[in-house]
Amino acid sequence: MTQDWNPRAAEVQNNQLLAYDKMRHTCPVAYDEQLGYSIFKHADVMGILNNPDIYSNHVSTRHIAVPNGMDGPLHMAFRRINDKYFTPARMAHFEPMCRKVIRDLIQTLPRDEPIEIMGSFAKYYAIRIQNAFMGWPSSLETPLLEWIEKNRRATLKQDREEITKIAIEFDHYIHQLLNERRQAGISPTQDITTELMHDLVDLPEQHIHRVMTEEELISLLRNWTVGELSTISASAGILLKFIAEHQDEQHRLRQHFDEIPAAIEEIMRLEDPLVSNRRRTKCPVHLGGKDIPENARLTINWVSANRDESAFENALTYNPHRDQTNNLVYGAGIHNCPGAPLARLELRLLLEEFLTHTQHIQLLAPHEIENAIYPVAGYAKVQLIIRS
Ligand code: HEM
Repeated sequence: MTQDWNPRAAEVQNNQLLAYDKMRHTCPVAYDEQLGYSIFKHADVMGILNNPDIYSNHVSTRHIAVPNGMDGPLHMAFRRINDKYFTPARMAHFEPMCRKVIRDLIQTLPRDEPIEIMGSFAKYYAIRIQNAFMGWPSSLETPLLEWIEKNRRATLKQDREEITKIAIEFDHYIHQLLNERRQAGISPTQDITTELMHDLVDLPEQHIHRVMTEEELISLLRNWTVGELSTISASAGILLKFIAEHQDEQHRLRQHFDEIPAAIEEIMRLEDPLVSNRRRTKCPVHLGGKDIPENARLTINWVSANRDESAFENALTYNPHRDQTNNLVYGAGIHNCPGAPLARLELRLLLEEFLTHTQHIQLLAPHEIENAIYPVAGYAKVQLIIRS
């Protein structure tokens, strides 16, 4: 089949925002062997998200993926478990601990000298919050950071064998955590990990009510971890770079903390911290002027959909007061992000704490920024100077 584009071309990798904007205008549904059909327009993405009977999430037959790789009633059964952990009450309970983790980390950053924020802050911020939320020990920090890096490299190389090997490595860490809890006979309310071990999945069509199997539990934890670590650390880089680059907006937010949540939604609409998710067609479809066969691979491009001029007026201009109904940072439809309340909490506290404990955040120099390359969004390097 004809290749419409090459997502690995240097001009795409060097500036994903610009490259996806161009694709949205020139070839809004674009085929290539690696990603299948990439979908760049907001309206086409919404058509996919609103029709889960036509566009399946069951994209891999190799592994189960709880809940993202599931469809229909099975997805609903596992999704119910997910949603219970991100209620407003849970978020309010976690807020003081989350704030402390962030504050402690900001205190360690040097003042009045250059710091590369992705390597010295963003990844630790993401992992420490995840560990605190899950009740995981700090000894897991280094292996998990190494694991994320290996996973990123293997995904970039499209090395299937390596990806499977790395997934097994993650499973091993989690097996150990679960076994420690079983041996200690810890009660279900001890932490979120033990609570998940006692949760019952309700599979109505099969008339079954049971705890999750080890495979399901590990898959769920893997998806929370991968979902959290890469998007949250990318978000930290995107947000800090933005306020360092836009001094007026930094000044305004310092005076008005209540404006921070709206500013975050808008910054992340402009620069989505997650590039894409996959689907598979259950029947032939006609999308963006293309005939797509049954069982075809699709890649939803969130970065592009969120910058689509047909969905947002002056889409490429920052406007924190705009209506965010069409914002797809956390997806939409039945697979929308269950972790969004946690992400919003973590990111609001990030900016609140940075603005409270500094007088000034500035970019070292624009050329000291390095864009991230797919599958990572945002930045690989952001050099800042913070002044207290
Ligand atoms: C800024 C941070 C985050 C962003 C931008 C983000 C974005 C998204 C998006 C766009 C989807 C929809 C995927 C699709 O339709 O295929 C999604 C789903 C999901 N996210 Fe997040 N996410 C974030 C943080 C989190 C966190 C903190 C967690 C959990 C701890 C999480 C767990 C999940 C899970 C389990 C799904 C799959 C839901 C399903 O299939 O029903 N995410 N996320």
